[in-house]
Formats: sequence, C-alpha cells, structure tokens
Amino acid sequence: MNALGIDIGGSAVKGGPVDTRTGRLLAERLKIETPKKLTPAGMAKAVAQIAAHFKWRGPIGVGFPGVIHGSFIRTSANLHPRFVGADGVKLFAKATGCRVALLNDAAAAGLAEMKFGGGRGFSGKTLVLTLGTGVGSCLVLNGVVFPMELGHLPMRGRSAEKRVSSAARKRNDLSWPQWAGRLNEYFAVLETISRPELIVIGGGVSAKHEKFFHFLRTQARLVPAKLGNGAGIIGAALHAVQAGGK
Ligand code: BGC
Repeated sequence: MNALGIDIGGSAVKGGPVDTRTGRLLAERLKIETPKKLTPAGMAKAVAQIAAHFKWRGPIGVGFPGVIHGSFIRTSANLHPRFVGADGVKLFAKATGCRVALLNDAAAAGLAEMKFGGGRGFSGKTLVLTLGTGVGSCLVLNGVVFPMELGHLPMRGRSAEKRVSSAARKRNDLSWPQWAGRLNEYFAVLETISRPELIVIGGGVSAKHEKFFHFLRTQARLVPAKLGNGAGIIGAALHAVQAGGK
C-alpha cells in the first residue's frame, strides 16, 4: 500500500510517496521552506503543491505539530495561531482532493521509528522525542502510539522546549555539552514520570548524535532515530493506510 506522507514543521513542509510495507520513499521528497508563518489557507496551498508535484490521487497522511483531536487541530505553539480550532482533515482534503488522515507530527515519527527505525523489533515501553523547532513526544507500548505534549512541561517557568529544542540550542548558541546539560535536566523529569525502557531521539539533530549522546545520562537505553527527518513523512503515510477508508 502506498500513501503520500506530509510532515508539517516549524520551518518547512516536506512530503513524499511512501511504500508503507517497507517504509521506503518511492521518490525524492519535496521540501517547501516556510520562513514566514503560513496561515491555514497558505499551508493548504503548500500541501496541495506537494500532492500536485507527485500527481498524487491516493491517501494522504499529514503530521501536524500540535494537539490533534479527531480531525481538529487544538494547539499550534510554533505555527500560525489561526490553526487552533481548524478542521485539519477538511482543510487538507479540500486543498488536495484526496482522502486525508491527520495526526501529531511526533506520533507520526514514533510510528515510523518503531516500525522501521531505531525502535524496530522492540515492543517494550518507549519514549520517542523529536528535537526540532519544538520538542515532540509520544509513548509507545506494544506498537500502540500515545501522543504526548512533553515539550510543554514547565521547566524554569516556561515550556521545556524553549530551553531544550534544537532551535533553542542554535538560538542561544549553546555548545554541545551545554545543550546536553539542559537535556539531562529535562530527561530526569521525563524519566520520573514515564520510566521508559528505551528512548528514541529524533529530529534533524539525531543525525549528529555522536556530537552529544556521550554527554547524556539516562536510565533508559538511548538510541538515535534511524529515519532522521524522514520519520515524520513515513509515519504520516503509515497512519493514512492504517486509518483506511474512514
Ligand atoms: C507541539 C507538539 C509537537 C512538537 C514538535 C510542540 O510545540 O505542541 O504537538 O509535536 O512541538 O513539533
């Protein structure tokens, strides 16, 4: 089964057709940079541009960086505030003319990493964290993905993601050990509340894991995401197929 996976992020929208049996991209992904915060209408255009680029007529999975309840977007911490309350399924289905399934971006990454990436073959309690513009999170047990919002745990009076995301590292010009120090403080809280057996770290920065993993101290086994930035696209496509004809 093939599906088009689309990953909406804080600085770009990426998409590509995925063979959901192998987790492989069937063509080079298309990336549209979004330096300015796009409105829902602007984002729908970008999503339609990706579908048109691949002449796509099949199911589409869209990963969005916010709380998703059914077809509705409930939060938009790093994107346009007008997404809050929007019916994302309706918005993107209308723009593309295709059947759309919507899910949280980190839940998408978790689905893909557990099936084809860093957590492949492991069915125990796993925490998947994505470090990007924000911090995405989900818990996975026996293949069931539970979306979380651990990036918004309060840390020193504000959302943790403002201190520990990959964007925060760049914004504050932190050295790798400085950033890892912040991550260790954060992991201590995450492990207290969730006690996972395995932690998978995703987001673009997972490709540079050798620069900071050795500074990290966790009780759980720590592994980098294997699918890197592709995880969101692949997981969104998996979700579109799992969602079936609904
Ligand atoms: C959002 C999450 C999202 C994460 C990563 C956070 O700000 O609230 O829903 O998964 O960023 O994009």
